[in-house]
Amino acid sequence: MIGIAVAASAIALAAGCGGSSNPAPADMSMAADMTLIINGCPSYPDPVAKAGDNIGGDTYNSYAKGFFAMWCTRCHSTTATNRQGAPAGYNWDDEASVRAHLAMIRNAVGVQNFMPFTPPNPACDERRRLVRWIDAAAP
Ligand code: HEC
Repeated sequence: MIGIAVAASAIALAAGCGGSSNPAPADMSMAADMTLIINGCPSYPDPVAKAGDNIGGDTYNSYAKGFFAMWCTRCHSTTATNRQGAPAGYNWDDEASVRAHLAMIRNAVGVQNFMPFTPPNPACDERRRLVRWIDAAAP
């Protein structure tokens, strides 16, 4: 029964929100502990933290800004000369734009795991850390 429920949610994820934005069909599998793995990393559809949780001091300035600079802004930035198709206005060097798109970013980095669009990719732990920052209300 649990297996069926998880498989159904995998299908829902594949077909669900942001589906048309996926650059390629997601590669999905199941870890031994039944965690759903999408594009090589665990998928976190449910919150991993809540506002006020201790997230090791991570803030936009101390952590998220650097994450985006490392993995995203070569396409998603106000100054990128070749956005490689990254949508206009989705600029992750602009804190206001990041904050306006947190739910989409969470989905792209930590649920469906389809960003970055091309390698290099952050390690799975880094994906989870960004999700945790978002779930803790992006301090
Ligand atoms: C190599 C260029 C590139 C990099 C690097 C990149 N993106 Fe993207 N991003 C794109 C393109 C192209 C699209 C549009 C994809 C589409 O519509 O199919 C996109 C779309 C998105 C979207 C919108 C998705 C949706 O649901 O419509 C989000 C959110 C996003 N990127 C976040 C990120 C984040 C966060 C990072 C860094 C971890 C990142 N991207 C790295 C090229 C890139």
